[in-house]
This record gives sequence, C-alpha cells and structure tokens, in this order.
Amino acid sequence: ARILVLHGPNLNMLGEREPEVYGHDTLDDINRRLRQAATDSGHTLDCFQSNAESDLIDHIQAARKEGVGFILFNPGAFTHTSIALRDALLAVAIPFIEVHLSNVFAREAFRRHSYLSDIAVAVVSGLGAQGYELALTAAIQRLEDTSG
Ligand code: DQA
Repeated sequence: ARILVLHGPNLNMLGEREPEVYGHDTLDDINRRLRQAATDSGHTLDCFQSNAESDLIDHIQAARKEGVGFILFNPGAFTHTSIALRDALLAVAIPFIEVHLSNVFAREAFRRHSYLSDIAVAVVSGLGAQGYELALTAAIQRLEDTSG
C-alpha cells in the first residue's frame, strides 16, 4: 500500500532546532529510515514537509486520489490551531496516526489541546524519532490486516 508521512511547520529544522526537545536526527534521517522500513515490508512511503498550512491541505486532498492507505502526520504547531487540517483529514477519510517528537502533555498548557487527536487512529507523543517508526509499524500492520 501507499503510506504518506506529513511533517508540518519548523520540522525542516530538526537536528538544529531545540535538540534537547526534538533530538539530533534531521528530517532526512527520519524520512530515510521510514522509507527503508516501508520498502522492506513491501510498501511505498512518500514524505512531505511544509511550513504552509495550505500545502499540507493540498497534499491530504491529493492523497485520496493517489490511493494513499495511511497517513503519519506530525502537524507541528498546526496541531493546536488548525480546524482546516482537521476538516481535510475528515474529508479524505484516510486513517492517520498523529505523531509528536516531544511529549506535548509535559510542556506548555496550549500544547495539550489537539484539533486532530479525537479523529486519529492513535497518538504517539514523546518518543522522539522512534515514535514515527513505531507508528509506521502499527500502520503497516493495519494495512496488512485490512487487505488480508
Ligand atoms: C511537535 C509539538 C508541537 O507542539 C510543536 O509546535 C512542534 C512539534 C512535536 O513533534 O513534538 O512544532 O509537533
């Protein structure tokens, strides 16, 4: 199946951005490992990062036409602000896991609310880059269960 990994604003700066919060891996490091893991289990994985809400919405809308079966999504700060991203995910009805590198519940109060968590399959928060890999494992399992 096709899997889409979406990264929101400021995640292009991973590795140099507050490494004590977000770790030392760059976005390329993370994407490379995810692509490899997906390929190893016979799936295709595309990655996209944008600082712009509209680009993320366009990619979510396109995902339906492209037959994407699952989305891993770190919406960055849009997690806490974006009704438009919520509506895009509801519109395409593609299952997704919300991923955060940091534990959003251990930080400022405004990070505790997400516009996406209640419509996500699951939320992974606080496991750093490993969170994406665990989310991918779960996504692949679900894709294989439903196509079985
Ligand atoms: C984040 C958490 C958000 O609150 C923050 O705005 C980010 C990154 C994370 O991965 O921990 O940009 O999504």
